[in-house]
Amino acid sequence: MKKILITGGAGFIGSHVVRLFTETYPNYHIYNLDALTYAGNLENLKDIEQKSNYTFLKADITDADKMNALFTEYNFDGVIHLAAESHVDRSISDPLAFIKTNILGTVNLLNAANESWKDNMDNKLFYHISTDEVYGSLGETGLFTETTAYDPRSPYSSSKASSDHLVRAYHHTYGMPIVISNCSNNYGPNQFPEKLIPLSINNIKNKKPIPIYGKGENIRDWLYVIDHARAIDLIYHQGKNGETYNIGGINEWTNIDLIHKLCEVMDKKLGRKEGESAELITFVKDRAGHDMRYAIDANKLTSELGWQPSLQFEEGIEKTVDWYLANEEWLNNIISGDYEKYYNKQYSER
Ligand code: NAD
Ligand code: TYD
Repeated sequence: MKKILITGGAGFIGSHVVRLFTETYPNYHIYNLDALTYAGNLENLKDIEQKSNYTFLKADITDADKMNALFTEYNFDGVIHLAAESHVDRSISDPLAFIKTNILGTVNLLNAANESWKDNMDNKLFYHISTDEVYGSLGETGLFTETTAYDPRSPYSSSKASSDHLVRAYHHTYGMPIVISNCSNNYGPNQFPEKLIPLSINNIKNKKPIPIYGKGENIRDWLYVIDHARAIDLIYHQGKNGETYNIGGINEWTNIDLIHKLCEVMDKKLGRKEGESAELITFVKDRAGHDMRYAIDANKLTSELGWQPSLQFEEGIEKTVDWYLANEEWLNNIISGDYEKYYNKQYSER
């Protein structure tokens, strides 16, 4: 039985990866390591928590001794590392939390894996999940490829860029088998409602203003989370040692067009008259250092490993809205906690 450590498995993307691996590979034991920060939620995994090939480990990757002890106890064969502080706005108000988890936490995992694997690296793999934001900001044209120079501009993207460099350094210096993937913006079920799409779904549902930063002209390339999880599965099993793969939706939207689309879908689902939800759109003060455009060239992944996104955006956004409307309790549990404090602090200043 292969033992796979998935970090950050109680978060948005991690929970979909944990579910996919636990269900697809009964011959793997999946260890989900998560500190359960504000973004971690075991409710995301209720449907699989009883499976015999799944174990939850509550631990913080910034705790080096704990990481070493867990590698000694379990002898993991592979790591899929998703645990991170992931929200740009929070990185602007508290950069140090991002340095600690995203950089120091990654080094702790690399050290623990290196110590555990150093005598025999055969069939071991450290797979680091990263973001397209490490490449910086595009103008009107062009796409990020795997060879685009790193140019991170927020504390979040800088901390992720640092962790990518460190993972490559352990490959070159210690011979650790690694792969890295850099993905565009994800959306779908279970995303914490601090990110644009679930925040807007929640506000539209509750007839609250939808805050659009600046003029809403910034562009993101959106990918349905399950398609990201499918790409991670492919890369984990077929990616070449030492390589990087870009993952993207070929699906660029300005924020304002995206929100209009979302309002249109929600008007229909909620039985509101056409245009009613769009009246909630409110332009607010821009994010500091707001990256203009992200867009991914995923040709390497498509041509080498045969990956394609399975969903069109129209279908994905409907599925996402349906999920949030059907999972009121999940959403209410979040917005009744510290979320309100966070929201008031972030948005009253805009
Ligand atoms: P998320 O914020 O929803 O989840 C992060 C998870 O990590 C949470 O469960 C949290 O409890 C856990 N965590 C945080 N700090 C920890 C620590 N110190 N020790 C242990 N666990 C800790 O994030 P997400 O959106 O699911 O992103 C997952 C990964 O994918 C991140 O590495 C992120 O950089 C990357 N990524 C995200 C996107 C996106 O659009 N969301 C796109 C590309 C890449
Ligand atoms: P976000 O979901 O935070 O992802 P990222 O910053 O990692 O791309 O934001 C997506 C886009 O939406 C980004 O251009 C910022 C913008 N945005 C808003 O306009 N209003 C909001 O309330 C939020 C959270 C984001």
